[in-house]
Amino acid sequence: MKSVILALSFMFAISTFAEDTLNKEEVYKVSWGKYCAFCHGKDGKGTTTIGRKMRAKDLTSAEVREKYQDEAKLIKLISDGYTKNGRKIMRPLKDKLSEAEIKALAKQLLSLKKK
Ligand code: HEC
Repeated sequence: MKSVILALSFMFAISTFAEDTLNKEEVYKVSWGKYCAFCHGKDGKGTTTIGRKMRAKDLTSAEVREKYQDEAKLIKLISDGYTKNGRKIMRPLKDKLSEAEIKALAKQLLSLKKK
């Protein structure tokens, strides 16, 4: 019995190791969760406590969608951050995330569900 458990846990270790490389969906989940969601919420609607306080925009709204139809604009926003009236609102992420991660984030943002 003991050896069966040992063999199983060994197999488990191998399979989790294989999943170490992230696919796009996961990149989005990880980076979005870490860098965007505490203001904009999981669904991008900005209904978290901080989001409401800071008046984070609803990223699924027509206004934001129209402004950021193209991926390059979003990539720039995520890379350089966002400052309004001299106040830093979103910090730049180009040193935190890889180009591929930023791109994946922009792509997924564009595919957020409409409200
Ligand atoms: C510290 C809170 C905070 C974080 C973290 C944050 N945002 Fe924002 N975001 C805001 C606020 C507040 C606004 C609304 C700014 C304004 O008044 O125009 C905003 C606006 C935006 C807009 C619309 C900008 C425009 O031109 O109208 C986009 C797109 C956006 N955020 C994307 C993101 C993405 C992608 C991330 C993660 C990489 C992120 N935000 C992280 C607070 C945040």
